[in-house]
Amino acid sequence: MKVEILIDNRAEEPFLSEHGLSFLFHFEKGKVLFDTGAGTVLKENFSAAKVEYDKISALVLSHGHYDHTGGVAPLLASGFTGKVFYGKGMEKKRYSIHSDRPVKELTIPSEALAALDGLPQEQKKEIHSFTEIQKEFFLTGRIPRNSFEDTGGPFFLDPDGRKEDLLEDEISLLTSGGLLVQGCCHAGIINTLEHCRKNAPHIPVRYIMGGLHLLYADPLKLAKTAEYLQGVKSLEKIILLHCTGDNAVQYLKEHLSCQVLTGKAGSSFTF
Ligand SMILES: [Fe+2]
Ligand SMILES: [Fe+2]
Repeated sequence: MKVEILIDNRAEEPFLSEHGLSFLFHFEKGKVLFDTGAGTVLKENFSAAKVEYDKISALVLSHGHYDHTGGVAPLLASGFTGKVFYGKGMEKKRYSIHSDRPVKELTIPSEALAALDGLPQEQKKEIHSFTEIQKEFFLTGRIPRNSFEDTGGPFFLDPDGRKEDLLEDEISLLTSGGLLVQGCCHAGIINTLEHCRKNAPHIPVRYIMGGLHLLYADPLKLAKTAEYLQGVKSLEKIILLHCTGDNAVQYLKEHLSCQVLTGKAGSSFTF
């Protein structure tokens, strides 16, 4: 199966970059789109990749952050007729609050919610638990947070920073071939792998692809993450994108014996 990176923080010509993420899966019987980016380069990058909207059979939204859902409205207005899958609570207002910068709202755009509202019920599905959405494609549903990992935020449900946002709508995608795909992996890669191991013990994860949100990870978190990943003997390749952070990429390259790669919009990988 081929996976094309349509949108990422980095891009190769003629693709454009933005803070966002979108993948297109090409498999024997169709195409699945995972996230839509923030919407600022969707049109240009989809035409660079020669994506035909009406050939996409499903859209998966990894979580409600704007940089993954900002392209929903233009996509749905452009002839997409597939089914949309997303987690419960994607519509929540959410914010990132750092002490050294202004509060930033990360909520899914209202245009995206309106476009989803306008879809007939049979064209959308809220995912609550580990689910096979079509042959060989599974969505994790809510990922329990049992390890030391946190959201890597700081993320909140209010602009005053009183209610922590655990991004409970976040879902990841697992294929029967062992490819695990992340949007931002706010639940943590260890929690996500443990959840997959519990729900799909017959699928050893061989590849991880996406953002791992390790931008603000301290040295202890990086060390524990690398130690865990090194222990996943089935792991062959990790492709790091979007919000992983350059330091974390370098650290994982130095500490893991599997292949650790980066990608950008315009690159594609075959699994
Ligand atoms: Fe993101
Ligand atoms: Fe995110």
